Amino acid sequence: MEGTTDLDALRAALLWQAEAGIDEAIGEEPVDRFVASVEQAKALAVAAPAVARTPAPGGPIPLAAPEHAVQTASRLAAAANNLEELQAAIAAFEECPLKKTATNTVFADGNPAARIMFVGEAPGADEDRQGKPFVGVSGQLLDKMLAAIGLDRHAEDVTKAFYITNIVFWRPPGNRNPTTNEIAACLPFLERHIELVQPDVLVALGGPSAKTLLGRAEGITRLRGQWHPYSAPRLAAPIDAIALFHPAYLLRSPAHKREAWRDLLAIRDRIQRT
Ligand code: URA
Repeated sequence: MEGTTDLDALRAALLWQAEAGIDEAIGEEPVDRFVASVEQAKALAVAAPAVARTPAPGGPIPLAAPEHAVQTASRLAAAANNLEELQAAIAAFEECPLKKTATNTVFADGNPAARIMFVGEAPGADEDRQGKPFVGVSGQLLDKMLAAIGLDRHAEDVTKAFYITNIVFWRPPGNRNPTTNEIAACLPFLERHIELVQPDVLVALGGPSAKTLLGRAEGITRLRGQWHPYSAPRLAAPIDAIALFHPAYLLRSPAHKREAWRDLLAIRDRIQRT
């Protein structure tokens, strides 16, 4: 019966790993992705001029990415005349490495005619499985927070609805943060996404989204709590943008819910004026 015991022990070890979030096996050796992305960014900065992207207020963060991926994404995004075409273009885009390990492309959810658009960081395991953003535990908290200010992603009334997406469309393996290169490769699609939806109010969820959208280097604690103009070449006028703590952060640090509530009230006041 020793074989059975070994199998049981292996099964238990595997279950323990899955519950701890270790559900991807993509390499033999550990990779320090922070060092890798910094080294790659340095090499690209030497080899190629900075990637052209929308200048944002306060000056853009220079994002380095393989130029080809950014060029392809820019061309595909610019050719998309509506959300269906944009979704198809993203689904056909093969130059973001995250796509290779993801199960689904996660485009958006909610009412695209809503006056308010939320932008999170990256799909997690539940989102990857279902192909929709913010459907896991942090999405459930976000839905509750937004219900408290009268918003529902499925509302037909555009003044009560919201629309939601992420800065990258594929789940990073093991839920790590997306690298600057991965974000840069997806950015032309995100910018076109915002141009096509043309919301009155844009909300960045968490630090990486806030830095990307606002083109700023500060962390979320500094960026939240104030309105920033979001500009893009094909937008007739800048959009009022604000950053909110990510719901996953609020789950880990509930003491910050007080500031998040203040930001939610500011958002409610702003959308009541639209
Ligand atoms: N966190 C995000 O930033 N996006 C999702 O879609 C889910 C969790």
